[in-house]
Amino acid sequence: MNKENNFSPEIIVASPGRINFIGGHTDYNNGFVLPAAIDKKITFKFRKNGTANICNVHSTNYNKYLVVDLNTIKPSIEGWENYILGVLQQLLNRSDLVKGFDCVISSELAIGSGLSSSAALECGLAYGINELFDLGLSKLEIAKLSRDAEHEYVGTKCGIMDQYASVFGEENKVLFLDCLSLEYRLIPMQLTDYRVLIINTNVEHNLSTSNYNTRREQCEEGVEIIRKKYESISSLREVTLKILEEVKELMSPVIYQRCLYIVQENERVQKAAEYLKNNNLKNFGELLYQCHEGLRYQYEISCEELDFLVDYSKDKDFVIGSRMMGGGFGGCTVNIIQKDFVEIYIKEISQAYKDKFNIKLDAFEVAPSKGTNHQLLTVQENK
Ligand code: GLA
Repeated sequence: MNKENNFSPEIIVASPGRINFIGGHTDYNNGFVLPAAIDKKITFKFRKNGTANICNVHSTNYNKYLVVDLNTIKPSIEGWENYILGVLQQLLNRSDLVKGFDCVISSELAIGSGLSSSAALECGLAYGINELFDLGLSKLEIAKLSRDAEHEYVGTKCGIMDQYASVFGEENKVLFLDCLSLEYRLIPMQLTDYRVLIINTNVEHNLSTSNYNTRREQCEEGVEIIRKKYESISSLREVTLKILEEVKELMSPVIYQRCLYIVQENERVQKAAEYLKNNNLKNFGELLYQCHEGLRYQYEISCEELDFLVDYSKDKDFVIGSRMMGGGFGGCTVNIIQKDFVEIYIKEISQAYKDKFNIKLDAFEVAPSKGTNHQLLTVQENK
């Protein structure tokens, strides 16, 4: 494949990462979430290469190359390759129009940081190949097949939120997504004097994938127990606090806490959507703190570094909400902060974090932005 500087693409795809204001781990429980695509993305350059089955993929960040034969796709021992291979397999399951292509990928999203670089990678690849070969897949199919790729090739039994937000996001809007019906409403985010600040702990603790899958299994176990009394219930989405109290005795304390967190979190997300609609950012932010407490003590997927960052913000009047995001055990916090304090706060919290853990954090503003999109290049632009 040609080197990056003389690569002439037919299509350029931008696929954003996402933030999730609230609705931690509710997506795979058929619940509600409040994510947004962000202005940090992965860029893909695509062109057909005239072969029936050979695909050349170059990741510029890692300077890694992957050659895939579409006739013999199987999972790889190289982690990042499985996102590509998994998506290709899903596309082949749905269409026989996929042929050989070249693709150059460059990313502004740190891997494993909780901004869902994985969904951006999966969805951008699926989206680009869909355009390149005219597969006729809808945005929803792209989101779903990307999630399926993650289940089957990567092994994380994730929900649909990340892929959905990456594909369907819109500028200055937050998605209020119902993960059962997959319907969503766009809520304008009027930040006025506030900004969304992401703080990356720069830690990723081991076993996050297996712990993630365990949480999902524990929720399913909870549903099985609830079904002994309420046969028609198929997910925690349909469970009320009253129902949960009735079956509490049948559950271990751990399963009860997991279920309780999800039931309460679904209520919080619905409240948060209302606050956002009414532009009540203070009450909205307060729910982020409550969400974090639930993830910390009930769902038990936080870690020392995340807790430190959230706790640190609590007595700062200019921070009105903070919580951990994503799968857990590392990654980022999302913070809502008054704009005049962003710089000074980054300085202060970076120092405090360095003193405590001897780790350098990363902090940057993000804004709700447009979902996966593309640009078709004319022959002249290609030169
Ligand atoms: C990860 C998963 C999502 C979701 C979040 C937690 O990002 O990919 O599906 O479950 O964790 O809210």
